[in-house]
Amino acid sequence: MDITERKRAEEQIQEQLQTLSALYAGAQRLTESLDLEEVAKQVTRTCVEVFKVRLAWLGRANPDGSVKPLSWFPEETAYLREISVRWDDTPEGQGPTGRAIRSGFPQIIEDIAGDPRFAPWRETALQAGLSTSAAFPLISRGETFGALNLYSDQPGFFSPERLEMFQAFAHQAAAALENTRLFEETHRRLAHITALRNIDMAITGSLDLRVTFNVALDEIVNQLKIDAASILRLDPYTQTLEYAAGRGFRTRAIEQSRLRLGEGHAGRAALERRIVHIPNLLETGRDFLRADLLKGEGFMTYFAAPLIAKGRVLGVLEIFHRSPLEGNDEWLNFLETLAGQTAIAIDNTRLFYDLERANVSLLQAYDATIEGWSRALDLRDKETEGHTQRVTELTLRLAREMGISDEELIHLRRGALLHDIGKMGIPDHILLKPGPLTEEEWEIMRKHPQYAYEMLSPIEYLRPALDIPYCHHEKWDGTGYPRGLKGEQIPLAARIFAVVDVWDALTSDRPYRGAWPKEKALEYIREQSGKHFDPKVVELFLEIANQIQDT
Ligand code: C2E
Ligand code: SIN
Ligand code: SIN
Ligand code: FE
Ligand code: FE
Repeated sequence: MDITERKRAEEQIQEQLQTLSALYAGAQRLTESLDLEEVAKQVTRTCVEVFKVRLAWLGRANPDGSVKPLSWFPEETAYLREISVRWDDTPEGQGPTGRAIRSGFPQIIEDIAGDPRFAPWRETALQAGLSTSAAFPLISRGETFGALNLYSDQPGFFSPERLEMFQAFAHQAAAALENTRLFEETHRRLAHITALRNIDMAITGSLDLRVTFNVALDEIVNQLKIDAASILRLDPYTQTLEYAAGRGFRTRAIEQSRLRLGEGHAGRAALERRIVHIPNLLETGRDFLRADLLKGEGFMTYFAAPLIAKGRVLGVLEIFHRSPLEGNDEWLNFLETLAGQTAIAIDNTRLFYDLERANVSLLQAYDATIEGWSRALDLRDKETEGHTQRVTELTLRLAREMGISDEELIHLRRGALLHDIGKMGIPDHILLKPGPLTEEEWEIMRKHPQYAYEMLSPIEYLRPALDIPYCHHEKWDGTGYPRGLKGEQIPLAARIFAVVDVWDALTSDRPYRGAWPKEKALEYIREQSGKHFDPKVVELFLEIANQIQDT
């Protein structure tokens, strides 16, 4: 008696040890992968290979009451293909799986042939050689999300010890499956954030909307896992949606998209400011105004999301898929976020171009003002008609030949137009005096470049244009005014301008003397090279002056 009892006890310990190591080995397998399908496969395979069940399958409880098999083993088994299992109140929900999911406890069918609850699957199971079965709930954080189903051909296989072990294994399987789900979710969220960041960078990095749209559409198609997408922009004047960009289309029909606000699905999304979802475009074909588009593309699922920024509808983002697509909450949320980003991109460039347009018109207004001033100055100075215009054009021509950049030429032009603005501070009796100036009068007259400096330097926009008004009476040999600068101390713009200005003054009638003949003026300029004027500028001027005289 003693010996047989001890032997039985030893056997039991041995069996428990085997069970434990089997469980341990099984659990080890489950942690090897973070791929849901892979882990599900591993669970059922372990049940068969390690725990010696005849057939194992693992199913997920769907919200609609169905149970979807995720994996089964042996893989070639036909049983799963032939049965349908649910977890709701229907007869197909009264088997072990349905009850395990609803109750959260393991359910055993000792005798498949005799148990009435197994009726819907009995014939198929018996043909497959199965005689007993058990279903174990898969529970994560208190919620049952599926079941693990095991079958044996040995009656009495699901003994209390085995049940305990399978229950422990089902817990581990549930944890491993939940892990992969969390991992995949984290992965997906990270990809979403990266996608948004990419679009953000495209928005800030480019003012070309086409570039931004292309980046956005790439991310939209990839992250939402859809076949095609298009962006329609709302023209605020005509109130029509027009194609702006697209991805994933087989034909170019989408480019013809032109819908009035409220017209078609996209027009409705824009008008009603909400996502419009059409699960099957073929069924509602008549509402979909772009029938041509459908013909060549074979689309089924459609979403239209309004593009709204700062409360204004700027367009519509359209999503197309060639098979059914059930967007869950997370998917829909992300669609909304992507639509929001796209709207921001449109709004951003609109802001920039509006600002740029405002700036351009402001600059045009400034330049028109400057030209007005310069004409007024000519009039007061009794200059000959168009003196300022002539010296400005000739100065620009010389400057361009001397290699001054276009950017600089803008300032040079403004400076030339305003070169004698300082004469506004010179009284008429001096400025318009018919004869030579006295020493006191000269002293006042020589202040006009300094006056120009004082008038223009507070205006930021004209500060880079100061060289000519301030320095046009400096001389190459240092005998000019107001500062007596010498040689290349004198800004190049002013050196160029001085030659042009004297030329035009000498060949014009002035209040204090009549116009000189051109030859005499040219002779004078040649003679003043290296004294009043920069020799290089004189050289170039004389070349150009010859051309002017020829024509
Ligand atoms: P503006 O009449 O426009 O003359 C511009 C510059 O051209 C002069 O600068 C001078 O370098 C040159 N220029 C003009 N006319 C003659 C000329 O008959 N002979 C020579 N050699 N150079 C001439 P500048 O001399 O510093 O004079 C500055 C401004 O002072 C002149 O501008 C003009 O408004 C005024 N100004 C100069 N001389 C007289 C004058 O005799 N009578 C009056 N009423 N104003 C004068
Ligand atoms: C069920 O699992 O509830 C019925 C189907 C089966 O066990 O084979
Ligand atoms: C002018 O040519 O209008 C005047 C140039 C100067 O300041 O002498
Ligand atoms: Fe002057
Ligand atoms: Fe002048």
